[in-house]
Amino acid sequence: MSRALRALSSAYVERRHKLAEGAALDGAGKRAAFALFYGPIHFLLVREILRAIPRTEAGDTIVDLGCGTGAAGAAWATTSEHPPRVVGIDRHPWAVAEAAWTYRQFGLAARVERADVTRAQWPKPPVSIVAAYSANEIVDEAARDALWRQLIDRTRRGDRLLVIEPLARSVAPWWVRWRDVVIAAGGREDEWRFRVELPAIVNKLDKAAGLDHQELTGRSLWVG
Ligand SMILES: C[S@@+](CC[C@H](N)C(=O)[O-])C[C@H]1O[C@@H](n2cnc3c(N)ncnc32)[C@H](O)[C@@H]1O
Repeated sequence: MSRALRALSSAYVERRHKLAEGAALDGAGKRAAFALFYGPIHFLLVREILRAIPRTEAGDTIVDLGCGTGAAGAAWATTSEHPPRVVGIDRHPWAVAEAAWTYRQFGLAARVERADVTRAQWPKPPVSIVAAYSANEIVDEAARDALWRQLIDRTRRGDRLLVIEPLARSVAPWWVRWRDVVIAAGGREDEWRFRVELPAIVNKLDKAAGLDHQELTGRSLWVG
C-alpha cells in the first residue's frame, strides 16, 4: 500500500502531465491508496474549511465536481444541519462507483454521473458547488476557462461555490485570475493549515510512504 501511495503522490507532483490521461487512477494499487489515504485527508480538510468559513450551510443540493471518491461532497453534506442531496460528477468510472459508495455510507441521498465536468449539465441554481482538487486536472485551458465563466455566472444566480486546491501555486497557475474574479464578486480567498488527528490507518500510511500530513493544508475560494 505504501508503494502504491508513493506512486500516486508522484503522479500528482512529478508526473502531473500524465494526469489528463488518467494516470492517477490507472492501477488497483493507486486507486486503493487514493480511497484509503486521500479520501479521508480531503474529507477532513474540506470539513475544517467549511467550519472555518461563516454561513456555509449547503441548502438542498450539493454538486461535487470531479468528485473522486466523494470526499468533498460528503464532508459538506455532513457539516450541514439538514443533509442535502448530493450529485457527484466525475469522468472516471471507478471514481463514480466509489463516490456512490461513500455517499451511501454517510446515509446521503445522492446521484452520481460519469461525465466531463466541462461539458456536463447539472441541477439549476441555487445549488452548492464544490470542486476540490479537480480543476487543476483540467488541462484544456479553454475548457477550464469556460467552466469558470459558467461557475461565476451561476453564483450570480444563487449558487454557492467552494474551490479547493493545494497550496503549491505551480499546480494551479490560473488561481490568481480566478481569485480576482471571486474577490470582485464579494467572495473570499483563504490559505489553510489545520492540525487534525488523522485516522490511525492514514497516519500509518503517511509515515510508511515518507509523507507528512500532520498538518492539512490547502487554499480555497468561496462565494456564498
Ligand atoms: C485529485 S482527485 C479529487 C477528488 C475529490 N474531489 C477529492 O477532493 O478527493 C481529482 C478528480 O477529478 C476528476 N476529474 C479531473 N478532470 C475531470 C473532468 N474534466 N471531468 C470530470 N472529472 C474530472 C478525476 O477523475 C479525479 O477523480
